[in-house]
Amino acid sequence: MERTYVMVKPDGVQRQLVGEIISRFERKGLKIAGLKLMQIPRSLAEEHYGEHKGKSFFAPLVDYITSGPVVAMVLEGKDAVSTAREMMGATNPLQAAPGTIRGTYGMDIGRNVIHGSDSPASAEREINLFFRPEELVSYDRSL
Ligand code: CMP
Repeated sequence: MERTYVMVKPDGVQRQLVGEIISRFERKGLKIAGLKLMQIPRSLAEEHYGEHKGKSFFAPLVDYITSGPVVAMVLEGKDAVSTAREMMGATNPLQAAPGTIRGTYGMDIGRNVIHGSDSPASAEREINLFFRPEELVSYDRSL
């Protein structure tokens, strides 16, 4: 089973889309292995988005992601990384397919509602950045 890191961004929390977004993942069949509401410290935001350092949108991105609470989660399931990415749609909501999360709820690349790891390696890195091992729970859903 694969795990991925997904985060409802400050615009998604502010617009009260958290329940709707989690519900989509649950209905798809992805299992929640970790979940928390948190305010991201600036240092963590800079590390998380380190690959974008030097780009024109880096500073606004860090300002934005630290501007209000996010909902951080770890989702588990078969091909969890690509499955969650498919459900989110393209980074730019204007190019995201209708019916995807960004395609349904977004209009602005800087306010694109949700983040998801782009590879299994990124998922491992991001899960470790946002969750301590004891915050992740393994359980049997058939109970
Ligand atoms: P995310 O998947 O969280 O990863 C990096 C984020 O940078 C991306 O979503 C966008 O919200 C944000 N961003 C802002 N401007 C741009 C841009 N011009 N190109 C790509 N990403 C951008």
